[in-house]
Amino acid sequence: MNVESFLKQRLVCVAVIDKVDDAVPLAQALIAGGLNCIEVTFRTAGAAESIARIRKALPAAVVGAGTLLTAENVKAAVDAGAQFGVSPGLSEAVSQAAHEKKFPLFPGVITPTEIMTALELGWKHLKFFPSETFGGVNALKALIGPFGHTGVKFIPTGGITAATLPNYIAIPQVAAVGGSWMAERKLVAEKDWAKITALTSEAMKVIAAVPTK
Ligand code: 3PG
Repeated sequence: MNVESFLKQRLVCVAVIDKVDDAVPLAQALIAGGLNCIEVTFRTAGAAESIARIRKALPAAVVGAGTLLTAENVKAAVDAGAQFGVSPGLSEAVSQAAHEKKFPLFPGVITPTEIMTALELGWKHLKFFPSETFGGVNALKALIGPFGHTGVKFIPTGGITAATLPNYIAIPQVAAVGGSWMAERKLVAEKDWAKITALTSEAMKVIAAVPTK
């Protein structure tokens, strides 16, 4: 599968999983809501194990590894079977490790200079983070002015909700939107799978209402 097919549903659920036993039920709850794409963040000790478990139990799921801050994180993500990686920022060490492993990476950017550096490093799908704090849709549209023709695609993430989702999805250079609102850490800890499915299904309906570009 290529990057475009990973992001085909135009939504990435960013998850923080505290207990590895919650990983598969969480991914199942998302799939029940119509979303197969989950990014498991390397913020908890069980991140790699959670990725491995989801990959084994649910072949239909597309599983990314998030919060990749070091080359070691990249290696652990690849070893766990992650299909793509996400980083909050742009690190040459992370970039190099991903290239060495032929591992698709969505590095984080927020400024024109970072976008230029990410393009120079060979990455085309960039996480725009933290989006809402740094101007959201308006900032992204301003950046698309000088960069739209380069073929760059953005995955805005950070503070996005079902209410702001349509404004992002309508932008042609937005490949997908990332967010945790449909599977907040608290909902996962409470094992509220029904609520997670309902929020996911709501988000998928919002996306379906915006035509593909
Ligand atoms: C991330 O790392 O991508 C963010 O934690 C997700 O942002 P959100 O929690 O504001 O949706």
